[in-house]
Amino acid sequence: MSRQEDAAADRNEVEATDKEYVFGTWAYQSEVDPTQVERADGVRFTTADGEEYLDLSGQLMCSNLGHSADAVADAMAEQAREAAYVAPNYTTDARARLGELLAEVTPGDLSKTFFSTSGTEAVEAAIKIARFYTGKQKILSRYRSYHGATAGSISVTGDPRRLAAEPGVPGAIKAPDPYAYGSTLDPMESLDYIDEMLMLEGDTVAAVLVEPIVGSNGILVPPEEYLPRLKEIAHDHGALLICDEVMAGFGRTGEWFGSDVFGVTPDIMTMAKGLTGAYAPLGATVVTPEIADHFEDEMLCHGHTYAGHPVACAAGVAAIETYREQNLIERASETGEYLGQRLEDLADAHPSVGDTRGVGLFRGVELTKREGEREPFGHRSDKVSKGTTVVDEVAARAADEGVYVANMINTLIVAPPLTITEEEVDEAVAALDAALDVSDAAMDD
Ligand SMILES: Cc1ncc(COP(=O)(O)O)c(C=O)c1O
Repeated sequence: MSRQEDAAADRNEVEATDKEYVFGTWAYQSEVDPTQVERADGVRFTTADGEEYLDLSGQLMCSNLGHSADAVADAMAEQAREAAYVAPNYTTDARARLGELLAEVTPGDLSKTFFSTSGTEAVEAAIKIARFYTGKQKILSRYRSYHGATAGSISVTGDPRRLAAEPGVPGAIKAPDPYAYGSTLDPMESLDYIDEMLMLEGDTVAAVLVEPIVGSNGILVPPEEYLPRLKEIAHDHGALLICDEVMAGFGRTGEWFGSDVFGVTPDIMTMAKGLTGAYAPLGATVVTPEIADHFEDEMLCHGHTYAGHPVACAAGVAAIETYREQNLIERASETGEYLGQRLEDLADAHPSVGDTRGVGLFRGVELTKREGEREPFGHRSDKVSKGTTVVDEVAARAADEGVYVANMINTLIVAPPLTITEEEVDEAVAALDAALDVSDAAMDD
């Protein structure tokens, strides 16, 4: 039997129905093979066939609170009974309170929020706000980035998922990234490149848009001085700095936001995922008072039916209260240190681990097929090709060992719920230890 026939024979009724009627995301549909999850609890989830997995990537790097944040679930249920939905021209205690809480937890004077329902929409709003505010059109972003799936946000995305949407919206220009391990450019040289680009564009760029720590494109942590200097460079050229915190935000780095790691307050910040601990779809775009004031007498020509959805906002309020009450930001910093050391142990034990990097509970394990040579197994084009790569096979072996770990191109993405304990880290590392034998065996002789 072929691999696809094998998968079909194993599917239960739900999985078969889903396969027939629902599109899989970012996929050749013939390769989509959904697994039914029946329960999720703490850092674990259980599939319909009774297999339990430790969730080492918080699903899509979003289940920051773990899978049993009852306070969030209760707040949603209560809000749904009280007033499940009101139009955006009304408000609710949940929406007002969440706006106030975001002003508290975001850095500096970031204080006014536009609510949407996803990271993609948070970025779309940021692009429009930057354009309205500056009167300029171009957005400079970087190649190793993901900012969303819709026309605007995929156009400012650098990774290969943008290629199918090209030429995309006009005005999206791309720069190199601070990627010490895999780029020929030194991270700080890549900043000089951006400086030069902005000079050559001649005051036509509305904003520089970056993930403060790149997420799905490989957990790229810039040098300490990179982000502060990038803000200066952007401002010198009359451009705003937008930090996309959709993945790095809400404790993942051991700080509330990735920008906090570098002591930077961007002009606009986007967030989603951890904002509700993934209990509800909610995006937010937060701006400084100066930008907010601009819209007092200029129309903010943007909106959604579900802007500030009460149930999602109730989830956001309860999520922020849970981060605070359970000290999850500090915990992520402490457990993250431990996780970092344990991943270093794996690098020492496995020649196919080329690099481990990251901050807090936001870490990457990049593979190499030639020891000491930084030669990857997977390439950017694999992200949009059919078939599996060695890093997929490593992840599949980790699943056989009871651990779910996401991966992209050539890197395992380690971003568990912030509630994970050191014992659970040890359990996950033991599974990765077994899984990395797969990439060791696949190395060039
Ligand atoms: C940095 C970043 N921005 C934007 C997005 C898009 O968010 P969503 O998938 O919620 O639309 C993602 C998703 O992974 C992301 O990582």
